[in-house]
Amino acid sequence: MKISIIGTGYVGLVTGACLSDCGMDVTCMDMDEEKIANLREGILPIHEPGLQEIVERNYQAARLKFTTNIQETVTRAEVIFITVGTPPQEDGSADLKHVKTVAGELAQYINGYKVIVSKSTVPVGTAKMLSSLIREKMNRLKNGFDFDVVANPEFLGEGTAVRDFMHPSRIVIGTRSIKAQKILKGIYESCIKEKVPFVLTNFETAELIKYASNAFLATKISFINEISNLCDKIGVDICGVSRAMGMDKRIGERFLRPGPGYGGSCLPKDTRALIKMGEESRVDMRIIKSVCEVNYNQKNIMTDKIERKLHGVINKVIGVLGLSFKPGTDDIRESPSIGIIKELLNRGASVKVYDPIAIESVRRQLTLHKTIKYCSDEYECARDADAIVLATEWDCFRNLDLMRMKANMHGKYFFDFRNVYDPKKVIASGFYYEGVGRSNISTEIESVGRDIFNDNK
Ligand code: UDX
Repeated sequence: MKISIIGTGYVGLVTGACLSDCGMDVTCMDMDEEKIANLREGILPIHEPGLQEIVERNYQAARLKFTTNIQETVTRAEVIFITVGTPPQEDGSADLKHVKTVAGELAQYINGYKVIVSKSTVPVGTAKMLSSLIREKMNRLKNGFDFDVVANPEFLGEGTAVRDFMHPSRIVIGTRSIKAQKILKGIYESCIKEKVPFVLTNFETAELIKYASNAFLATKISFINEISNLCDKIGVDICGVSRAMGMDKRIGERFLRPGPGYGGSCLPKDTRALIKMGEESRVDMRIIKSVCEVNYNQKNIMTDKIERKLHGVINKVIGVLGLSFKPGTDDIRESPSIGIIKELLNRGASVKVYDPIAIESVRRQLTLHKTIKYCSDEYECARDADAIVLATEWDCFRNLDLMRMKANMHGKYFFDFRNVYDPKKVIASGFYYEGVGRSNISTEIESVGRDIFNDNK
């Protein structure tokens, strides 16, 4: 089966590489010549575990090709995936200009029946719009070939995209064309070995499933963050609350980890786009608005914790561990860690940062305050700092040599904004511990900690 992919970002490159790894003959196209040249050299534009070897293996086997030529991309394949970016616009709506451009261009080269798969995250109604746009263009070109559009949203998480592609929880296929349904179902069935539920539905339902799923994930996160903020005030440990909640199958244990808020290129964008869709349909999406508001405030609540415990951050040195919006990726888009860093700088602190992978992303993309110091490891980040902040739960931060870290620090605060550590262990190393929704711990044990701390003098 010949497959073409237009757009080699997170979704396009992962989809193309994985389909080629299942034996399909895949061409990935991008208009960015440098990106394509790099891909031909095995240089990937994104960091995704497992992706490098899949791309190299299949490129070597000539099952995976890269091109900037859209005519070749369209004419060679029966199935064409559109996976170009749909970045948020000022008003929160998704920008469809790339999707529309691609649809208009590919219409010129349709040389036989095609299945055109809309896989970018697009507002409800986009697949229908694309179908009309392509048909109108083909009519103008007196091109009578048949084609079907399919809405096939992806549910790939960054840092786990290859695994998520090969082990999806469901595959959503939105089209009324039985022929297109069968073709797309056949592609996935030949690729994904385990039994996976297929949701065969129409355009609009498929498009909304994506937004509603992401908005619900964001809702769970803002919900547990709001409960954790209450826990901090009433001296309850959020970990016990979220663990017991998750035991209820109706709630589920995942996405109930409190922290500095959700980031990334999806949850923030998709929640805002859904609010916009509501406005355009005169539906006030009050819950999702609150989810966004809680998330926006969370980084300030985290910075307030630091400022309160240190009795002010002016001229204080804060070491921040983790810059990416989640572990396993170099993506810093809407990263809560970056939000906290900017807030600390605004409040007069000096900030040192370390991240195993995303430091270059920060250097490249952010003209952050000159007072930021980029460190080569977590211990340099802590050296002479008044406080250390664990903002992104990279594995390399899960077993820090706390005694060594404390010995090199000027201060004694450990802000564990992902509740990674057992507070008792941190306090036994001479720190004061502050987590998220765990103030009871730092309060209850602070006195004990103080004793231990004094004993350690
Ligand atoms: C998300 C969806 O999970 C995925 O299904 C969709 O296809 C794309 O958007 P992603 O943005 O890669 O994936 O990251 P995700 O794992 O959802 O995490 C998003 C943010 O939420 C991260 O900043 C993460 O730290 C935060 N998060 C996640 C929490 O704060 N608590 C949690 O319990 C889970």
